[in-house]
Amino acid sequence: MSAHPPETQKKHVAVIGAGMCGLKAIKEMLEAGMDVTAFEVSDDIGGIWRFTEEETLSTVYRSTRINTVRAANSFGDFPIPEGFPIAMGHEDMMRYFNLYADKFGLRKCIEFNTRVTHVEPVEARDEKSNWSWRVETEDAEGGGSRKTGTFDGVVVCSGHHSIPHSINFKGIDEFPGLVMHSHGYKDNRKFEGKRCVVVGIGNSGSDITTEISKVATRTVLVARRGAWIVPNPFFNEDADVTSRLDENIIGRLPQEVSASLVEAQLEPARQMLDKVGLGPTYRFNESHPTLTLNSLENNFYKQVEEGKIEGRRGIERFEGSTVHFTDGTSMEADAVVFCTGYKITFPFIPSDILEVNESNELKLYKHMVPVGARDVDNIAFIGVAQPVGAMAMIADVQARVAARYLSGALKMPSREAMKQDIAAKLDFNNKWYYKAPRHTVQVSIRPYLDELAEMIGATPHFLRLLFKAPWLLWLVYTTPTVGAHYRLLGYGADLDLARHDILKEYKNCYAHKRNRKTLLGVLVYQLKMLGIVLPMAIFYQLKSLLTTGKTFFFAW
Ligand SMILES: Cc1cc2nc3c(=O)[nH]c(=O)nc-3n(C[C@H](O)[C@H](O)[C@H](O)COP(=O)(O)OP(=O)(O)OC[C@H]3O[C@@H](n4cnc5c(N)ncnc54)[C@H](O)[C@@H]3O)c2cc1C
Ligand SMILES: NC(=O)c1ccc[n+]([C@@H]2O[C@H](COP(=O)([O-])OP(=O)(O)OC[C@H]3O[C@@H](n4cnc5c(N)ncnc54)[C@H](OP(=O)(O)O)[C@@H]3O)[C@@H](O)[C@H]2O)c1
Repeated sequence: MSAHPPETQKKHVAVIGAGMCGLKAIKEMLEAGMDVTAFEVSDDIGGIWRFTEEETLSTVYRSTRINTVRAANSFGDFPIPEGFPIAMGHEDMMRYFNLYADKFGLRKCIEFNTRVTHVEPVEARDEKSNWSWRVETEDAEGGGSRKTGTFDGVVVCSGHHSIPHSINFKGIDEFPGLVMHSHGYKDNRKFEGKRCVVVGIGNSGSDITTEISKVATRTVLVARRGAWIVPNPFFNEDADVTSRLDENIIGRLPQEVSASLVEAQLEPARQMLDKVGLGPTYRFNESHPTLTLNSLENNFYKQVEEGKIEGRRGIERFEGSTVHFTDGTSMEADAVVFCTGYKITFPFIPSDILEVNESNELKLYKHMVPVGARDVDNIAFIGVAQPVGAMAMIADVQARVAARYLSGALKMPSREAMKQDIAAKLDFNNKWYYKAPRHTVQVSIRPYLDELAEMIGATPHFLRLLFKAPWLLWLVYTTPTVGAHYRLLGYGADLDLARHDILKEYKNCYAHKRNRKTLLGVLVYQLKMLGIVLPMAIFYQLKSLLTTGKTFFFAW
């Protein structure tokens, strides 16, 4: 393969990883007319969604379900077939990925059991030729044989939820019991009859504490900031369904006001958490949300009510099998599970191309294109974002942006402009969310998707839809955001497929909810939204205009 192919030669792109994002990348690169070789270190597709009993492999746990509805988990170009549950489990996710890979013939592009060990840019010879990339791999099955290939572009899809972030508490090395991180947790069987300590109260911490507390003799959850724990709206017919229009209104309220609206509804739950020392110390929308009721059997609040979960704010030290907490209490423990999140790392990328510091801070333009010390081209990352919502929608839009970029059809702005955008986003996250490594790549899904899709003309803007497909305006603006909304316009659009998917999923996932199902439900909701929230939004927008000369839009 030549390092610098003539412009007429088909481009050849390397994709690293064949999880959710890798599959999307392969499909979109092929669709854009490029050749693809994907490298996957394991022996199958699916990434962390491929549940296995093997503890060394980072996978979801046995009971993991998607924590957003099915509708949001569909790649916009392949509706989830009828028959899949609304709350898809990992086996359903894998079924969908396999159908997707078969439909678009993706497996033939993947070299399994192959680990990428290093990528290196090869600078363009002159202005007429392109940058290319040398990709070094090794056989991961044990042979260790190494290979090098040269590609016109690289798409990194290696995930950011596999390398554990652990905490080195004083004395932990001498703790005689079981110490593990949630990335290796499969189910609660090995905690039966044990005295357990769980650290961290993200979604892993909440689910794993719930499960362990059903079989352990004692379960203490250590959470330095406590949490707002939201009952998953999947299982709640009364949960409000919000649309693009609603989000446009709510996003025009100041952060503390929109937080207060939700906090008022969660007040009884907060009181229950306060009683066991797990009440939140921050405003509702300052963090990535923690949900419970991941399935009907797993309900954090039920376990708290039954006295099966105790809370502490911190661990001071371990002394043998004794855990000393920061409030002066202590307990004898048999097991400690760290649900303390993940480190973002790309060990195969030179640090002058992308550096990730200890706080998980990194410089990716639109969470996709590195702007490091070395000025490079033709490399994109997919999946390095954490949405309040489903990753599948992001993977679908990012993969199309990457395909346009690597095929040469889309140019990135100047380095200076990209740096400014990165700095503005980091600054926004630092102000909006409390500062923590888990929030550096946090995105508010709809504004982020709109911004990204704009690069390929796929944002479902009001005026564009009005001219292109006015009959779809109502549908898009009054229903929740789903991937198919970004398949109505621009690059990769398929109007009929998208309309069909939006209608089908609306009926399946949302039409039965209280604020959609009955006329009374619709009226009460609209009265609340248009009679209370809209006037509030107008008030705060006017106030901001008069005091700062600017309006604002903040979406969580
Ligand atoms: C417990 C848990 C539950 C989650 N639940 C949800 C949810 O409900 N909804 C949601 O949207 N998101 C959820 N997520 C987030 C999740 O990260 C995404 O859904 C999604 O899996 C990201 O896909 P990915 O392809 O980026 O990464 P991964 O799924 O991690 O896939 C990366 C792939 O790259 C391969 N790879 C890595 N390094 C190399 C290398 N050097 N060479 C070759 N191959 C390599 C890996 O083997 C893997 O197959 C959850 C995460 C966790 C941990
Ligand atoms: N589908 C599902 O049901 C499901 C299940 C599990 C996970 N997920 C997803 O997987 C991703 C990862 O979730 P996660 O829960 O594993 O990780 P996470 O969201 O990063 O949460 C990590 C937790 O550990 C705490 N922590 C980190 N460092 C700490 C320290 N030094 N001392 C004390 N506490 C510390 C954090 O507290 P601070 O906030 O105070 O830093 C936080 O409570 C998220 O996107 C999540 O939504 C989904």
